[in-house]
Amino acid sequence: MAASMYQRLMEHLSTAVLLLDGGLRVTWMNPAAEALLSLSLSRVQERELCPLMEKDDGMAAVLAKALEDCHPFTRREARLVLMGGEPLTVDFTATPLSHTELLLEVEPRDRLIRISREEALITRQEILKVLTRGLAHEVKNPLGGIRGAAQLLDRDLEDPAQHDFTRIIIEEADRLRDLVDSMLGPNRVMRPQPLNIHRVLERVRSLVLAESPGVCVERDYDPSLPDLAGDEAQMIQAVLNVARNAVEAMHEGATVAPRLLLRTRARRQFTLGARRHRLVSEVAILDNGPGIPEALQATLFYPMISGRADGSGLGLSIAQGILHQHQGLIECESVPGHTEFRLLIPLETRHD
Ligand SMILES: Nc1ncnc2c1ncn2[C@@H]1O[C@H](COP(=O)(O)OP(=O)(O)OP(=O)(O)O)[C@@H](O)[C@H]1O
Ligand SMILES: [Mg+2]
Repeated sequence: MAASMYQRLMEHLSTAVLLLDGGLRVTWMNPAAEALLSLSLSRVQERELCPLMEKDDGMAAVLAKALEDCHPFTRREARLVLMGGEPLTVDFTATPLSHTELLLEVEPRDRLIRISREEALITRQEILKVLTRGLAHEVKNPLGGIRGAAQLLDRDLEDPAQHDFTRIIIEEADRLRDLVDSMLGPNRVMRPQPLNIHRVLERVRSLVLAESPGVCVERDYDPSLPDLAGDEAQMIQAVLNVARNAVEAMHEGATVAPRLLLRTRARRQFTLGARRHRLVSEVAILDNGPGIPEALQATLFYPMISGRADGSGLGLSIAQGILHQHQGLIECESVPGHTEFRLLIPLETRHD
């Protein structure tokens, strides 16, 4: 096979492959490796690989040992942290080709797990939407009739004490209608406009501070994030629903120094569901509250799921619906003392 054929094969492999020299400097890597490690060959060529990460989890030592012993080495579940803070769990195999050449194959673990989880999340969201629409239709039609009939009845009633009964019917019918409407989420068509995500976050920050002055709201923004296309009012609603939950949980858990962090990051070559995006903007809302009860975690984004006595359980389902309209999604990780909701919104889509 001609050399150019090998080159083409390597470039189209979905497995990340790198070639290092005796000093563990990158001499070559394929596009899959560039995407996985968020590094570009032109910028890192001739530079040592491991210092290009925030945390290499002992990778440098393993690579040096493989070279020294001239023996292949596989390591499972190495927990790397890329520059920019993105954690990445990988399996890697280092195969020395000579004392000065090391072939490195890297396979992501958490991305695989996450992609399938995200796909499940999107499918669930779609099923939910269809179910809620059907239910809303079935509930709202008879409700209109019930309300109208109660109004007619109200006019003809002579005993004033009986007006209380018709009033109850009308008020309860309205309450049910409002509930169904909020389950359906935003009912107007989204009008995408250039949207500055930091403006959204600043707005949410000032609302949270006004509502709960005791909470410290910190910011860690990536100012290089470009505008996205979206609906500002809806996006404020989504972020606010998540932030309010955090504040409520911190209050209920009597957190000593309640702290909310709003963080933005750009994620490159990111897959959401089945789609690969060149650029995804990540908005993370972190709190140091008691965490989400284990029993709630699997169904967190379903409507009517609440851990609070006075909660309606709609906040997160509405927020997820809004992100869905923006081709994005919300994911969550929570342990006591650290809860992180990440809103992922694609900026540019690569159709492949
Ligand atoms: N940051 C968080 N920390 C701890 N628990 C949380 C957090 N965010 C959400 N939860 C849990 O998830 C549940 C569901 O949240 P969701 O916003 O959907 O409903 P709700 O807050 O109960 O009601 P609503 O928002 O409609 O008033 C909450 O009741 C709470 O138990
Ligand atoms: Mg809520």
